[in-house]
Amino acid sequence: MKPINVGLLGIGTVGGGVFAVLERNADEIARRAGREIRITAVADRDTERARRLTGGTVKLTDDAFSVTRDLEIDIVVELIGGVGMAKDLALSAIESGKHLVTANKALLAVHGNEIFAAAHRHDVMVAFEAAVAGGIPIIKALREGLSANRIEWVAGIINGTTNFILSEMRDKGLPFDEVLRQAQRLGYAETDPTFDIEGVDAAHKATIMSAIAFGIPMQFDKAHIEGISRLESVDIAYAGQLGYRIKLLGIARKRPEGIELRVHPALVPASRLLANVEGAMNAVLVQADAVGATLYYGKGAGAEPTASAVIADLVDITRLHTADPEHRVPHLAFQPDQVLDVPVLPIEETVTSYYLRMRVLDKSGVLADITRILADSDISIDAMIQREAGEGESQTDIIMLTHQTVEKNAIAAIARIEALDSVQGKVTRLRLETL
Ligand code: NDP
Ligand code: HSE
Repeated sequence: MKPINVGLLGIGTVGGGVFAVLERNADEIARRAGREIRITAVADRDTERARRLTGGTVKLTDDAFSVTRDLEIDIVVELIGGVGMAKDLALSAIESGKHLVTANKALLAVHGNEIFAAAHRHDVMVAFEAAVAGGIPIIKALREGLSANRIEWVAGIINGTTNFILSEMRDKGLPFDEVLRQAQRLGYAETDPTFDIEGVDAAHKATIMSAIAFGIPMQFDKAHIEGISRLESVDIAYAGQLGYRIKLLGIARKRPEGIELRVHPALVPASRLLANVEGAMNAVLVQADAVGATLYYGKGAGAEPTASAVIADLVDITRLHTADPEHRVPHLAFQPDQVLDVPVLPIEETVTSYYLRMRVLDKSGVLADITRILADSDISIDAMIQREAGEGESQTDIIMLTHQTVEKNAIAAIARIEALDSVQGKVTRLRLETL
């Protein structure tokens, strides 16, 4: 059978991996796909590097639009990143009648609604397994493997860079900047690493998962995003003493009132599998009504793990290439006319538990004042430790874990605690997820 021709846009970390794995495993991949999948054109700004990586066996250009419009190409793989040029190239490929594979979570979270609508109009497929959790087939699991279920929530460690930073800082005591540089050298970090550190990359991925899990449009602008840059090592240590680890979680949860869509550091019980996901590894836990909890674990970044997901999409598209568009798997798991406009809830409506750390005067009655405020707010305390004050010290730390409450309730109670004369400065508040 005639080979499928692929045009590759960007031959950097992931593009290089795709080229290498497709070449190395060509026979095995063709046996699965039913025909040869071959890269026939590559666009990259650096055509000399592209020539070195490809051995000059394919058409090379620095004009990516010449690939999206190339009549010989069946599938365009976008691996340049970003949301500017990448969006124009994605739409150009779709409008030229080509299927699109992308690893670009930013592009889909921000412009996905427009891109999927264009793909629907032009009867082409858009596949994006690599956009969430790199090599882990979480998109396929949510979209196809769990299609019998009502999905209740999805929670994941979906940014390798921040998980790597948190693990190395905790285990080796290495400074933040040094670990970040390592992550960049290893090819995990985004071009702009603040996307990783400030939780934006994880929010892109959580947005995509929320759309497929619940059949809602991409609503990245409604996601609540907090990264790890303000996390203090003292809280990592206290969390450890209480039996918890701090992880940057991406959470999408369906409630009767709407969807919680949030990324933030959270305490997770150390006994949970998710708390033991270390280094650049990713894991996603899905709670669904029929199957219960399922966990997906693996490498969330890097050249070949990500290439594995990109090539799986190429195989899927190759197999379904000639199928009627209505017999293909819908882009967002639900049929396009069944996507529902369920609102994303403001963060103040989130229901979760809390870790509170406060610096207090070491004198009688202080604890009673604090617990009275929490009781008045109907916030129940689950655990508490008080650091023993050192000799001559007049202040100490109190750390409390609460049961679940609505976030606005916790915020109001904390404001009252901060107003006590015996409480010094701000209360540190972190969310706690028992999962
Ligand atoms: P890289 O920066 O390593 O590669 C991108 C390549 O595209 C570079 O060679 C770049 O050239 C080239 N490029 C950029 N703009 C253009 C353009 N307009 N025309 C032609 N070539 C262009 O990125 P990655 O491979 O790491 O990431 C690619 C995508 O995959 C991103 O969307 C990323 O978020 C996603 N992703 C990455 C993962 C990873 O582990 N790295 C994991 C999962 C997803 P130059 O260097 O000269 O700018
Ligand atoms: N920068 C991302 C990460 C790459 O660190 O997880 C994978 O999407």
